[in-house]
Amino acid sequence: MAWIVIEGPDGVGKTTLISLLRGSLTEKGIKVCVTSEPTNSPLGKLIREWLLKQKIEPPHVYALAFSADRYYHYHNVIKPALSRGEVLLQERYKESTIVYQGAMGLDLEWLELICRYLPDPDLTILLDLEVGKIIQRLKLRGESGDIFEKKDFLHRVRELYLRRAREKGFLVLYAEDLEKLHRQALQYILTLLEEKGLTRRR
Ligand SMILES: Nc1ncnc2c1ncn2[C@@H]1O[C@H](COP(=O)(O)OP(=O)(O)O)[C@@H](O)[C@H]1O
Ligand SMILES: [Mg+2]
Repeated sequence: MAWIVIEGPDGVGKTTLISLLRGSLTEKGIKVCVTSEPTNSPLGKLIREWLLKQKIEPPHVYALAFSADRYYHYHNVIKPALSRGEVLLQERYKESTIVYQGAMGLDLEWLELICRYLPDPDLTILLDLEVGKIIQRLKLRGESGDIFEKKDFLHRVRELYLRRAREKGFLVLYAEDLEKLHRQALQYILTLLEEKGLTRRR
């Protein structure tokens, strides 16, 4: 088993990359499970239909709701997939809460504390891109909203992600050229699988 988490701001290309990786790994005969947060559980539904539609105060509600969904996710989806020996490609995990709620002003130590009983994945890949380019992609996807507020928040999110990546040793990949990004991410994942004795380099 191998557990790979893809992190990064909204619109940076996580879903797109995961779908390309799923294709390439499956082609090599590797059993892949794709999952993402917020989940499809009633908690995930509550997050999407309530917390993401308007600004709720205080921000602690976001941290706790996302974390509750995440503990559910770990126990009911992630752990079973890993014990079946699958390669798990996951969009967002605890860094999302640390970075987003950190960017909302919450104390990072408290955020880390509520994540304490969530194990670390084998590899966290942070997709990084300039905020201006992310906003262009969000606009294309029809999700621009209040750009100015969004822009300021996105800057904080990007900076905090990069800082966490330096501190925690995440792999940072520049998310512009999709083909190159896919090639780089695939190479790291195949190396990880090889190290774990799960595949042979061709
Ligand atoms: N490397 C890329 N270059 C250009 N556009 C991209 C790239 N990756 C993703 N996109 C586009 O950007 C938008 C957001 O991508 P998506 O994968 O949904 O991001 P995320 O899952 O990180 O929110 C989509 O419209 C997608 O087609
Ligand atoms: Mg996505």
